[in-house]
Amino acid sequence: MDFLNMWPTTIGSGKFNTDGLIEYIFANYDLNNMEGEVNGGNIFKDNSDEMNKFKDIVYNSFDSYLYASIGKHIKDYKAHEMKAWITGHGKDYNMTIHNHSGAHLSGVFYILAEDQNSGGDIVFSDPRTNANRGYDDWWNDVFDKKSVTPRTGDFMIFPSFTYHHVNPYYSSLRICVPVDLYLYRGG
Ligand SMILES: [Fe+2]
Repeated sequence: MDFLNMWPTTIGSGKFNTDGLIEYIFANYDLNNMEGEVNGGNIFKDNSDEMNKFKDIVYNSFDSYLYASIGKHIKDYKAHEMKAWITGHGKDYNMTIHNHSGAHLSGVFYILAEDQNSGGDIVFSDPRTNANRGYDDWWNDVFDKKSVTPRTGDFMIFPSFTYHHVNPYYSSLRICVPVDLYLYRGG
């Protein structure tokens, strides 16, 4: 018998280093009063050297993921757009299950995540709706959630259709930057 594994949902992960970015964010942003994605927030409108350096890191990470997935680079598309915002700050932060509709790829970059013992794990779910319906627990591995406890400098990239949630975070300080990559083939 031949076996064909279809519909992969690849979660890319790695480390990044942005010297000076934490200090820049503390000096220039009010973390208790950030605009989220829904009200038009996009920290990548910021053209400072510190933010531009970070944009390059994010771009290159998305580009590596894209090339590994479909053998294309971002520049093969006619246009692209990256939108980013700051989340994860404050005690009891959590985020219910969602995906990033409309984008091609999404990523999450942990600029500051020092406390590994206060919850705040990001949990990815099997995107195959109701795929586990009716299966007994011997099949659990086939439908497992993937949970990650982030550390400072960790990033993850995933297809934007991937549902995920963030468990409650009981510490007060964490800077997490979700980013969406939109790709346009054009005419
Ligand atoms: Fe998200």
